[in-house]
Amino acid sequence: HEQVLGEGEALIQQECDGPNEKEILKGFEMNNEACQEVMSLLQREIEANVGKDASATIKMFSTLVKDLPRGEENGQFMVVNLGSRSLRILFVRIEGPQIETHDSKTYTIPPDVRLGTCVQLLNFLENRLSMFVTSKQLTDKETSVGVVFSFPCKYAEEGDLTTARPKKWTKGFNCDKVVGKDFGKLLHEKLKNKLTTCKLTIKVIINDAAGLLIAGIHKDKACRISFVIGKGVNGCYMKDNGSDGTVQGHGDEKTIIATEWGALGENECLEKFRTDFDRTAVNFSMSPKEQILEKMVGRLYIGEIVRQVLLLLTKESHLFKPFYSELPALNEKRGFTTENVLIIDSDMDQEYLTTRDLLQHLEFDNISDEDCKLVKFVCRIVLQRAAFFAAAALATLVKHVQQSHVTVAIDGSLWRSHLRFKQQMMAKTKELVGPDFDVTFLSIIDGSEIGAALTTAL
Ligand code: GLC
Repeated sequence: HEQVLGEGEALIQQECDGPNEKEILKGFEMNNEACQEVMSLLQREIEANVGKDASATIKMFSTLVKDLPRGEENGQFMVVNLGSRSLRILFVRIEGPQIETHDSKTYTIPPDVRLGTCVQLLNFLENRLSMFVTSKQLTDKETSVGVVFSFPCKYAEEGDLTTARPKKWTKGFNCDKVVGKDFGKLLHEKLKNKLTTCKLTIKVIINDAAGLLIAGIHKDKACRISFVIGKGVNGCYMKDNGSDGTVQGHGDEKTIIATEWGALGENECLEKFRTDFDRTAVNFSMSPKEQILEKMVGRLYIGEIVRQVLLLLTKESHLFKPFYSELPALNEKRGFTTENVLIIDSDMDQEYLTTRDLLQHLEFDNISDEDCKLVKFVCRIVLQRAAFFAAAALATLVKHVQQSHVTVAIDGSLWRSHLRFKQQMMAKTKELVGPDFDVTFLSIIDGSEIGAALTTAL
């Protein structure tokens, strides 16, 4: 814990050698004051949403989920997760406290579907569901389906969790003529018209972070927050007392509120924390002015931000040889992936064996120890900033929920795959919330899918 905090304070001062490199990288430093500023900005947004203040930039939404699991639910359900790049279909078997997922199959969503029309998306969903159902010999069996929708949505009808209307696309998905439509109804009609899928009945459509919170509550009654840290980021909370149930006008009962904290910064309130590298990295995005915080924390942009830094360092002769800036790894969009960043940051070898190997694979020759050290440092500082931003967002939710012992259900590919990120985020969250709040982190693999199945059971 102490080691992580030490790292946070002055990583650049202590570990970056050259004065020019220090200057180039200093924008990535996040001290506690910066974290606290981000916390205040997010808290203000939460309050604006709770108070139904139209000036709120982040449009948080009520997930309508009111029935919470008691550990007595039973049944087997099919769950379909529409993510940003893939469609995952699996079964979840629930027997009271015991939950098991099985027979998972993942289908890549091709760019022409992600960026196509509503009809193309519905055809794709029907086709993959049909393949899945046929392979499992389920075509004649009545099957209840829970859909995880990893994007923001509103519901057309109060109390009907099948009437999801996508509010906007995020994470590079941009399917035409879907936003604002009753997607649940469209999908239902599509499936009912086909022989292979007509026995499938969609019972629930739920945001991934909301599903994760349900799964968390099933495991631990003190769970009030969920946190997703993957390609996209999000967090939900449920407050026992208070008027938060009224976000988007739903009574004052307990409801799960999806914060969509990744949208922080759309009103430019984060500009002082953004670097030029961040601004250039998002130029390729279809919506560079949206999901600003998500684009500094989520897995989709980390590689791209690092690439921009390495490119400048190379061009200015602080790294490699200047002509290396022509290599695809530095010169092409997505040439340097987030996966590369994670591998390099995990390289503990004194002689940078893994880093050197990876760079050679990316066609860099004659790499010096100094080069490896600097590349590693860039990966580390960008990831560390992401972990601290995420911690600031989570600490805001913890303080907002106001429960002295709170469990956070957490999942997502960045959280799951990188130990240092996880440790830094946990330590920083604890530091930011202070001694009055005791936070327990509960990692739940497949949490969103489990939550969708539990809600279907309920
Ligand atoms: C994006 C979506 C959000 C989702 C998150 C994690 O930020 O807007 O709804 O929960 O990614 O997948």
